[in-house]
Order: sequence, then C-alpha cells, then structure tokens
Amino acid sequence: MKSIKIPVGILGATGSVGQKFIELLAAHPVFTIKELAASGRSAGKVYGDTVNWILDGFIPEELSKLKIKECAEQFESRVLFSALDSSVAGQIESELADRGHIIISNAKNHRWSENVPLIVPEINPGHLELIKKQKFNNGGCIITNPNCSTIGLVLALKPLQDKFGLDAVNVVTMQALSGAGYPGVPSLDILDNVIPYIEGEEEKLESEPKKIFGSLVSHGVSYSDIKISAQCNRVHVKDGHLATVQVKLKRKAEAEDLISVWKNFTAEPQTLGLHSAPVKPVHYLENVKYPQPRLHRDVDKGMAVTIGRLRECSLFDYKFAILSHNTVRGAAGGTILIAELLHAKGYIM
Ligand SMILES: NC(=O)c1ccc[n+]([C@@H]2O[C@H](COP(=O)([O-])OP(=O)(O)OC[C@H]3O[C@@H](n4cnc5c(N)ncnc54)[C@H](OP(=O)(O)O)[C@@H]3O)[C@@H](O)[C@H]2O)c1
Repeated sequence: MKSIKIPVGILGATGSVGQKFIELLAAHPVFTIKELAASGRSAGKVYGDTVNWILDGFIPEELSKLKIKECAEQFESRVLFSALDSSVAGQIESELADRGHIIISNAKNHRWSENVPLIVPEINPGHLELIKKQKFNNGGCIITNPNCSTIGLVLALKPLQDKFGLDAVNVVTMQALSGAGYPGVPSLDILDNVIPYIEGEEEKLESEPKKIFGSLVSHGVSYSDIKISAQCNRVHVKDGHLATVQVKLKRKAEAEDLISVWKNFTAEPQTLGLHSAPVKPVHYLENVKYPQPRLHRDVDKGMAVTIGRLRECSLFDYKFAILSHNTVRGAAGGTILIAELLHAKGYIM
C-alpha cells in the first residue's frame, strides 16, 4: 500500500538554503513539497523559470513547474520550512505561526525568543517541550535551527561536555561561500582572498551553544556557563565550514579518551532511525591533513561532523579541527532532521 506523505512548503525556496531543501526533500519518505514561496520579485512566476539553480543536477520536474507563492498567501501545508532572509523572516514566520503553521526556521530572528527552542536533535531534543508554552493562535509554533557554524561546533563539543565538562572554548572558523546565500560575496572580493569578518557571526557562535547546552526550567531555558570566544573568516570554498577549536575541560582526560567519546557518540535521532540522521554524528579522522571541505563535507549524507588533528594545547587542554556542511547539516538537512524528530514524537501527523 502506498503511504501518504505529509505536505510541506518552503519559504525562501529560491535561495541557497531553499534550493538545498528541494534537493534533500525530493525523495523523502515522510514529507513531500507542495508549496514554494519567496519574495514579491519571484511570486507568481514558475519556479524553474525564475530560480537561479546553483546545485548539481536538475530541479525535480514537478517542482520546476510549480508557481511561486508570496509568503502572505494561504498555505495548505501545515509544516513550513523557512529559508527566508533574516531581514523579513521574523514577521513572516510569526504571522504564519499565528495562522496555525508549524514553522521550522533557519533564520536567526526567533532563536532567542523565550519559548522558541533552538534545536540540534542529537543534543537537546527535550527542548521541543517549549513549543507547548508558545502563544500563537490556531496551534501554530516556531522551532529554530542554529547558525551553520554553531551546529558543527556543538556536535563536536557535545560528547566532551557530557563526559568531561567544558570550561572554555576558542574557535576560529573558515566559512564557505554558500553560507553567505545567493549571490553572496562578490567574486572580486573573495577570489584569491580571505575576509576576516562575517557580520553577526561571532556573536552567534559565542552565544547559541549556551542555549543549546542549557537546561529546561520553568521560565524556558537556563543557559550553560561555557565561555566561548569566536573569530570568523570567509574563505574561497564553495561548501563546508572548517574550524579550528581549542578546549579547556572541567575534568582532565587523555587524548584517547576524547577520541573514544567522539567515536562512540550516538543520540536520539540514531536510536529512532530518523531518515536524515547520520549513522554517526561525529567521525574522528586519523590522517593529520584531515578534515578538508572538498573531501569530507559530504560524509554521512553531509549530516555528520568530521574531526581531526587532536593534540595537546599549551594554552587550553586540547586543540583540533572540525568540518561540517553548512547548507546540509548547518541548514536544510538539520531542519529536516528536526521535522523528522517532531514527526517521530507525534507533533507532526
Ligand atoms: N546559507 C547557509 O549556509 C545558511 C546556513 C544557516 C542558516 N542560514 C539562514 O537561512 C536563511 C536563508 O539563507 P540563504 O543563504 O538561502 O539566503 P539567500 O540565498 O539570500 O535566500 C533568501 C531567500 O529569501 C527570500 N526573500 C528575500 N526577501 C524576501 C521577502 N521580502 N519576502 C519573502 N521572501 C524573501 C529570497 O527570495 P527571492 O529570490 O524572491 O529574493 C530567497 O528565497 C537566512 O536567514 C540565513 O541566515 C543560511
């Protein structure tokens, strides 16, 4: 018997993350894309004629023919994935939640609202409880995905936090161009170059892990006390954010203990067998030249974090390198995994 899939819509469907949603949901076993929306510049036009498709391969044929909606229109799908530009996401997402939609968003706007969970399914699935406290009309709610660099960092830190406790973290990122959206950074600014500034990024990386690692309390989330310092750079790489990380642990550990907890880390998405869950959320690579964006961004469907170069640090306890795919694990794929978790827990039917 053919199972009936749950219809979903994509807000911001023409952008860098919106296109990734289309690619990843093309053959999804639970969700099927029924509606696409973008700005007034694109609305009313046919998707395939309007989008500047930047991914490998072709646009799925049935979506290519779909007419793009405006975000103010009515949506039949209860579940809406948001890949909207943050200049407009806040208001649009609130209005749609008030109309009864479940919004799962990549935008930064609602990440710090008291009852809006900031979810990484392997780390804080219990924070989904917060949506019961949201006051949107018609049963709507908003759930957010963290910044694309935060997700890679917290997945690498989670096993260390659980086993040894984390006192302080210093992180330096080398972030890919697709992280700046489309058309993104002008080619003459980035060709043969590195830009040591990404607006708002260091603040997100320094603050979001505190909410993700926080504990649920009566008023929302009590933030973790981890101290984090971040420096973010834009580099001439298409996809995949690389970062070098230094950590100070609360309890002493040998290097092999860190590698062991990374190798053995598994969490609720793996236990539940969620479709987009990586088999292993983190992979430790022994080759001293790894991880590298071109070679490792697609490990485990682009949903895993690869880690390498673990060694002792004379300032902190240890240092290492991490890599994650910014538009997959750091955006569309991470958001789809949240939707799969919501479905498995009965929030989406
Ligand atoms: N790229 C990443 O790796 C990444 C990772 C994590 C989170 N994010 C976040 O995800 C969101 C999307 O990022 P992106 O990189 O895909 O950006 P993008 O390529 O610039 O795409 C932005 C999308 O927003 C739509 N939009 C712009 N103004 C609008 C309006 N007034 N009304 C309705 N839609 C409007 C655009 O539609 P038109 O084409 O019609 O203008 C486009 O579909 C952002 O909030 C970003 O911060 C991105």
